[in-house]
Amino acid sequence: MWGGLLLLVMVAAALIFRSPLPQDSPSFISPELVEGKTLYDAHCAACHGFNLEGQADWQQPNPDGSFRAPPHDETGHTWHHNDAYLLEATRLGGERLPANIGVSAMPAYKNVLGDEQIMAILEYIKSTWPNEILEAQQRIPNR
Ligand code: HEC
Repeated sequence: MWGGLLLLVMVAAALIFRSPLPQDSPSFISPELVEGKTLYDAHCAACHGFNLEGQADWQQPNPDGSFRAPPHDETGHTWHHNDAYLLEATRLGGERLPANIGVSAMPAYKNVLGDEQIMAILEYIKSTWPNEILEAQQRIPNR
C-alpha cells in the first residue's frame, strides 16, 4: 500500500516537474527560421532551388560562360565560407567577383534586403546542414 502511494507521488512529481520543450530541439522552429525560409523562397529559390539544390549541372558554366547558381545545401560550397563572407556575397551579388574569376548574374541584395533579413536567410540555410558541416563552417576564417 505504501509502495502504491510512493508510485503515485512519483508520477505526480514527474508530471509537475517535466521540462518544457527545449528551444533547440528539432521540433522547435523559431520565427527567425520561418522568416528566413519565406525570404529565401521569394528571393533566392528561383536560382538556388526550393530545396537549396542549386541549378542543374551547376558545376558547368552557362552557354555564355557565366557561373550557374551553386546549391546551398551541404553538397555545395556555401559552407566553405564564414558568415561575414556569405553576408557580403549576398549584399553585393555577382558584382563582387573580379573579372579574372568569372561572371555571375547573381543580383545584389544590399538595396533589397536588410542585413538582418539576409542573416535570417543564412540561418535558414544553415539550419539544414548536418552538425559536422556546421562545425566545419564555424572554424573557417574570414573568406
Ligand atoms: C538570378 C539568379 C540568382 C539569384 C536570384 C540568387 N543567386 Fe546567389 N548565386 C547565383 C550564382 C550564379 C552564383 C555563383 C556565382 C557567384 O558566386 O556569384 C551565386 C552565388 C551565391 C553565393 C556564394 C556561394 C559560394 O559558395 O560561393 C551566395 C552566398 C548566394 N549566392 C546567396 C544568395 C542568396 C541568399 C540569394 C537570395 C537573397 C541569392 N543568392 C539569389 C545566382 C543567384
